[in-house]
Amino acid sequence: MRAPILLSLTACAAFGLALVLPHDAHADGAAPALLSAKARLGQLLFDDASLSDPPGQACASCHSAGAGFADPDRSTPTSKGVRLGLFGDRNAPSIAYMAFSPRFHFNPTEGHYVGGQFWDGRAATLEEQAKGPFLNPLEMAHSSGDQVVAKVQASAYAPLFREVFGADAFGDTHRAFDHVAEAIAEWQRTPVFSPFTSKYDAYLAGRARLTKQELRGLRLFEREDKGNCAACHPVARDDKGRGGLGTDFTYDNLGVPRNPANPFYQLPTAHNPVGPNHVDLGLGGRVRQAEHYGKFKVPTVRNVAVTAPYMHNGYFTSLRAVVDFYNTRDVRPRCAGDLVSEAEALRQGCWPRPEMVANVNADELGNLRLNPGEVDDIVAFMQTLTDGWQPEARRVAGRLP
Ligand code: HEC
Ligand code: HEC
Repeated sequence: MRAPILLSLTACAAFGLALVLPHDAHADGAAPALLSAKARLGQLLFDDASLSDPPGQACASCHSAGAGFADPDRSTPTSKGVRLGLFGDRNAPSIAYMAFSPRFHFNPTEGHYVGGQFWDGRAATLEEQAKGPFLNPLEMAHSSGDQVVAKVQASAYAPLFREVFGADAFGDTHRAFDHVAEAIAEWQRTPVFSPFTSKYDAYLAGRARLTKQELRGLRLFEREDKGNCAACHPVARDDKGRGGLGTDFTYDNLGVPRNPANPFYQLPTAHNPVGPNHVDLGLGGRVRQAEHYGKFKVPTVRNVAVTAPYMHNGYFTSLRAVVDFYNTRDVRPRCAGDLVSEAEALRQGCWPRPEMVANVNADELGNLRLNPGEVDDIVAFMQTLTDGWQPEARRVAGRLP
């Protein structure tokens, strides 16, 4: 029974307090143990805003506990880099539960790619992923791993780094940078990132009741002849008795339109040589296979109520619009023009052309025949997936003076 402990953990995480956990378990459900020194080190690295060039941006800046470990800044659909005027090309996803993403691989039986990190799976593991942002000119913008290592070596937590990786941990900067990534990955594998403390989890454990609307939404979410959402976003209890992860870590092209508000389109040619003609190839760009162009990793629907905007390019700003799109993509007329915002498309009652016309999934979505009440029900269900839920009585009793 680790649930009571975890409940209090996420409460802290939600308030953004520094956490030193008395209990820790690997996200895969291994036996609870003390939070390792490596994970504590990872937390310090993850939160350290001096580890960008110029200083000012940490991993936590774009993956904040209070925003479901996505970017709390919703003023733009993609994240601001640490250098003024620069932006990334994709929406920062929630990194909660990503410790469960299997190593990127091709499944020959199913004939599809699975797992990995990033929207296109280009990092096979969390360790590999964690080195990317430090060196990305549109994010933390260091020119080399050595620069990062030098800052860590000069930091207040350098002794902890030596404690974890040995007295000579800074001797080989290449290895030291690998260690930085290893520690950050370890931190992301703690239950802080995968707490299973939503209202839905409490419901599965028999500790909460869903409202009638939420229950209807759950059924619609799972029914193959209705929402069919669980085909890619499984939420049913798994063999460990735990609620599903809200993603099967596969890749798909939903036909999401280009987002005219994507600031990446306006970047100087040094960063974006094709300007507003930029088309995100997703998985297909990573594996260099045209049959996978436009496919993106299925994001988890856990915590999705607090991680707007949505999709790889942040096209949608509300969950209702997302479900509306799944429901009517192939029913509404095409909007005139290519770069039509979500607001404009909803106003006109049309949907723009997909960003990548090839490979759009027309089997499982596009015309779900849901009525407006059913769309609302599915949204209501997704709102039960936010971690840190507490029963009303406890919420009131626990309120600070
Ligand atoms: C400027 C904002 C920003 C910063 C800083 C940042 N990230 Fe991210 N993160 C993103 C974006 C955007 C993506 C998606 C990029 C892509 O798919 O190409 C992402 C993706 C990820 C993913 C993959 C999640 C998934 O669903 O596949 C992980 C894990 C992650 N980041 C961890 C980190 C870590 C660790 C750091 C610090 C070393 C960090 N991020 C710093 C914006 C940021
Ligand atoms: C065939 C697989 C598939 C099905 C079925 C599916 N989804 Fe998705 N879902 C995805 C993929 C892939 C993305 C990301 C697409 C992109 O960014 O271009 C996504 C994105 C989302 C997002 C945005 C999450 C975020 O963090 O940006 C939400 C919300 C969502 N889906 C909800 C639903 C709901 C509700 C249904 C059922 C009505 C559903 N999905 C059915 C594959 C699927």
